[in-house]
Amino acid sequence: PSSTTEPRPGDAAVGGVSLAEVAGRYGTPAYVLDEGEVRHRCRTYRDAFPEAEVHYAAKAFLCRAMAHWVSDEGLGLDVCSAGELELAVTAGFPADRIVLHGNAKTPHDLKRALWYGVGRIVIDSPSEIARIAAAVGPDGHQKVMVRVVPGISAGGHDKIRTGTEDQKFGLSISDGYAQHAIARILDQPQLELTGLHCHLGSQIADVKPYLAAVRRMVGLMARLKEQHGLVLRELDLGGGHGIAYRPGEPAMDLTRLARKVRAELTEACAAAGLTVPRLIIEPGRAVVGPAGVALYRVVSVKHTGGRTFVAVDGGMSDNPRPALYGVRYAPRLVGRRGSADLAPVTVVGRHCEAGDVLAADARLPDDVRAGDLIAVPVSGAYHLSMASGYNAVGRPPVVAVRDGRARLLVRRESLEDIHSRDVGL
Ligand code: LLP
Repeated sequence: PSSTTEPRPGDAAVGGVSLAEVAGRYGTPAYVLDEGEVRHRCRTYRDAFPEAEVHYAAKAFLCRAMAHWVSDEGLGLDVCSAGELELAVTAGFPADRIVLHGNAKTPHDLKRALWYGVGRIVIDSPSEIARIAAAVGPDGHQKVMVRVVPGISAGGHDKIRTGTEDQKFGLSISDGYAQHAIARILDQPQLELTGLHCHLGSQIADVKPYLAAVRRMVGLMARLKEQHGLVLRELDLGGGHGIAYRPGEPAMDLTRLARKVRAELTEACAAAGLTVPRLIIEPGRAVVGPAGVALYRVVSVKHTGGRTFVAVDGGMSDNPRPALYGVRYAPRLVGRRGSADLAPVTVVGRHCEAGDVLAADARLPDDVRAGDLIAVPVSGAYHLSMASGYNAVGRPPVVAVRDGRARLLVRRESLEDIHSRDVGL
């Protein structure tokens, strides 16, 4: 770790570290992750849901330090590939607190999951049942859950709605697929069905869909008890809790969510004559999103087509979210005090397509110029984890900041890294 100086006027600090100094030391584009904020958000979940297991959804962002922080704060982990699993266990994450997800778990994913001894595997399709049972072996034992489609529409964008019938995840209740799969799991003595799982979607700020999911899932649990005498002790409601990307946007109130879900679950179980199952939740975005800042250097400023385009040295290869979901960010100038007059600008990336727009409707000081530093807050979730190799620019580094100190967690992808994979000539 290296200490950094106090921010200069017009600069901004995260975790007590000047963003301008991070940019100077590690280059741009770079992602800054506030360790204190990640840990604080983990604790906020633990405090709001003391009775529940909180599993961090690794797909939002994972590196070894992140896995360590999450484990240290007492959370479990949701992974959906052997790659995520291995990153976590090699960081010391206890495998029995890891859940394996995925609608198309490969033989390798399953093999590694069983080898490391993951706590639970969430079954997403009927064909997995026999595959998992065979891989576990006749004398083995594996806890599993079943991912059920609750038939509820919620989520910030069509591409991230997973609670509706017409999408690829899980087994639907309404046509009996879920029930059928559950009966087949019960025939496999080496598989222990601990409970049901559902995930409505992502970027949901409203509590109501979660309450509807509780009713739907408890309804299924009651029918399973009736038909099979099956008592399920766990209910996983997935993640999806929304955050504000720009000031004033709605975000999920976790305390309210916890209170309402608890009340609904208690009431629904009492009405159905069921013991209240242990609740599991799987937040990703809300743990890490607000803890991350993306840092870019302005490469050019140009006025054309009636607009001012501020082009930076990163773009859709490190943040594909605006292009994929039309998300809007609030970039700001850091490192110097700019003009007090703000101008409407379009912040674009360096990639070779017109859709490479990071913020279509940003407001920046009207003297913004090449060489300036731009910070994009709320960049911790689903940026680097979805980063691509487009235009061979290399993925940015991740720098952790805490108590006035910065340290490199993930180094920048170099051109040698990229070129070394190209072995065909
Ligand atoms: N559990 C399961 C089974 C999931 O599939 C997901 C996210 C989560 C939990 C965590 O959801 P979160 O709390 O992060 O919303 N790339 C998109 C988001 C895709 C979410 C995929 N699954 C985005 O950038 O908005």
